[in-house]
Amino acid sequence: MFFRKPSPTSSLNYYLPSSSDLFPKTKDKDPNIALTKLNKIKYLLFSFLLIATWLILLRLWLSPTTTTTLTTTTTTTLNNHNKTCVGSYPFYIYNLPPQFNLGLLEHCNNLNIYTNMCPHVANNGLGQPIVTTVTALSSSSSSSWFATHQFIAEMIIHARLENHPCRTWDPSEARLFYVPFYGGLYASSVFREVNLTQRDSLAVDLVDYLQSLPWFNINEGKDHFLALGRTAWDFMRTPSGPDFGANILLNLPPVKNMSVLTVERQPWQGKNQFGIPYPSYFHPKSLTELMTWQKQIGDSIRPYLFSFVGGTRHGLEKAKIRDEILKQCKNSMKCELVQCGNGASKCHDPMAVLEVMSKSRFCLQAPGDSFTRRSTFDSILAGCIPVFFSSHTAYTQYAWYLPDEKNTYSVFIDENDCGEGKKSIEEVLMGISKEDEEKMRVAVINLIHKVTYMHPNASVVEDVSFGDVVDIALERLSRIVEEKISGKDFGSEEV
Ligand SMILES: *[C@@H]1O[C@H](CO)[C@@H](O)[C@H](O)[C@H]1NC(C)=O
Ligand SMILES: *[C@@H]1O[C@H](CO)[C@@H](O)[C@H](O)[C@H]1NC(C)=O
Ligand SMILES: *[C@@H]1O[C@H](CO)[C@@H](O)[C@H](O)[C@H]1NC(C)=O
Ligand SMILES: *[C@@H]1O[C@H](CO)[C@@H](O)[C@H](O)[C@H]1NC(C)=O
Repeated sequence: MFFRKPSPTSSLNYYLPSSSDLFPKTKDKDPNIALTKLNKIKYLLFSFLLIATWLILLRLWLSPTTTTTLTTTTTTTLNNHNKTCVGSYPFYIYNLPPQFNLGLLEHCNNLNIYTNMCPHVANNGLGQPIVTTVTALSSSSSSSWFATHQFIAEMIIHARLENHPCRTWDPSEARLFYVPFYGGLYASSVFREVNLTQRDSLAVDLVDYLQSLPWFNINEGKDHFLALGRTAWDFMRTPSGPDFGANILLNLPPVKNMSVLTVERQPWQGKNQFGIPYPSYFHPKSLTELMTWQKQIGDSIRPYLFSFVGGTRHGLEKAKIRDEILKQCKNSMKCELVQCGNGASKCHDPMAVLEVMSKSRFCLQAPGDSFTRRSTFDSILAGCIPVFFSSHTAYTQYAWYLPDEKNTYSVFIDENDCGEGKKSIEEVLMGISKEDEEKMRVAVINLIHKVTYMHPNASVVEDVSFGDVVDIALERLSRIVEEKISGKDFGSEEV
C-alpha cells in the first residue's frame, strides 16, 4: 500500500541549481564549516549568475517553442500586479460566504480548545513577528520570521493565492478553482461537539453551496481544490471507527472528486489527498533573502550529533518509539534534548527550537499524535538532517516536495530495530561517513525553498519566484486536473 510518487518533470525550472553549485565542496579541516572565505566569494558571484540564469530560463520557458506537459495554457500570460504566471494553469478563487473562512476568525478565541488562536491568525495566518536570535542568523535583520502556528497553512495559502500571478478573476478563463475554506480552524472548533449533525454542519453546508455553483458542476468538482491546515484524519470520521472529534468533510462524495491539500494525508485511503509541508517560521519575501538564510545555515557550527525536540505520548501505539528516543537521547553525551511538556519548556519557543536544530547534525522525528510532525520542516529549515522512524512521517506524505531517493536527504531507522539489544541511534548515526553526511546536509539545505511558504505580500524581484510550497502545489494540481479531466484517473497512483 505504498504511495508511488508521480514522476518528476524536468520541464519546470523553479528549482535552485544543484547542491554542488550552491554549496561548493570544501576540503576544510572542519567539515561542519561548509564554506571557506574563497567559497563565500564564489557564492556571491554564483548568486548573480543564478539570478541571471533564472531570467534566461524564464524567457525560454515563456517562449512558445518550449514544449511542456501543460500544453495549452502554460504560455498564457496573466498580468496581475504586472507579474507573469509561470508553471500553473490560471486559477479562480471563490468568494465564499464568510462563515466558511473569515467569519470563523471572529471567534478566534474559541477556535481551538487548547489555544487562543487570535495571535496565530494575525498577519494572514503567519502569526506574530518574532525577533530572530538564532546564532546563525545574527548578522541579518530579517523581518520575515513569525511564530507561525503549525495548523494554519490554509490561511497562508489563501493569502498567497490571492496575490499569485496565476490568479484570474474570470472563471471562464480558469482551469483550476480554489475553494478557500478554513477547514482546519472549523474542525478544531467542533472537536468536542457531541451532536454529530451539528459537528458536520459547516462541511455539509459547504458542499451544498459548491454544488449550487455552475462552475463546480461542469467537471463534477475535479478541477476544484481545497487546502487544509490540519491532518486528513480530522475530516474522515467513519460510522464504525472511534470518534476522535473528526467531522466528515473528506468523506462527502463531491469532495472525493476534488483535490485536497493537507499537512498529513491518510496514507491508505487518501488518493485525492496531497501532502503539503507544515508551515515553519521563515516566510521570506525574495529569493535573495532565502539564499542568504541558506548560506548562513550552511555555515552553522553543529556541535551536537543529534537532537530531539518533543515529549512523550501516553497510550499511543504509534508514538511508543518516543519513550525509546527520549531514553537514548538522555543517555547519550552526543544528544541534545528539548523536552516538551513541563511549564518552562522551550519546545514551543520557535527560536529556541531552531537554535538547537541549527547546532545539530541530525534531528530525530518520531511520530506523535499523528504520523507527521511540523518539526520535520523546522529541521529542514535549520539544515539538520531528519531521522525518521516511520515511512508515514514523510516518505508517503510529501511526494511533491521531497526527493524520491530518501537516503539522499534523510536517515531511516526502523522502529523495530531500535531498542533493547539493538543498535543505538547514536551508533547508527556515528556509522554515517562525514562525506555522506555533508552531502545529505547540502541536499537538505537545497530543499528549503520548496518547503517554505513565501510571504504572501512578497515583492518578487522581476518575475522571479523561487518555487515555494504554493507554486509547487499549483504546478502539480494543474497536471492532476488535466489527468482527471482527460480521464486518466490519478487514482492509479494508489496500489
Ligand atoms: C503595471 O503596468 C501598468 C501598465 O503597463 C502600469 O500603468 C502600472 O503602474 C504597473 N503597476 C505596477 C504595480 O507596477
Ligand atoms: C499584505 O498586504 C495587505 C494589504 O496591504 C495587508 O492588509 C496585509 O496585512 C499584508 N499581509 C501581511 C502578512 O503583512
Ligand atoms: C443535533 O442537532 C440537530 C441540528 O441542530 C438537531 O436537529 C438534533 O435534534 C440534535 N440531536 C440531538 C440528539 O440533540
Ligand atoms: C464524481 O465524478 C464522477 C465521474 O468521474 C461522477 O460520476 C460523479 O457523479 C461525481 N460525484 C459527484 C458527487 O459529483
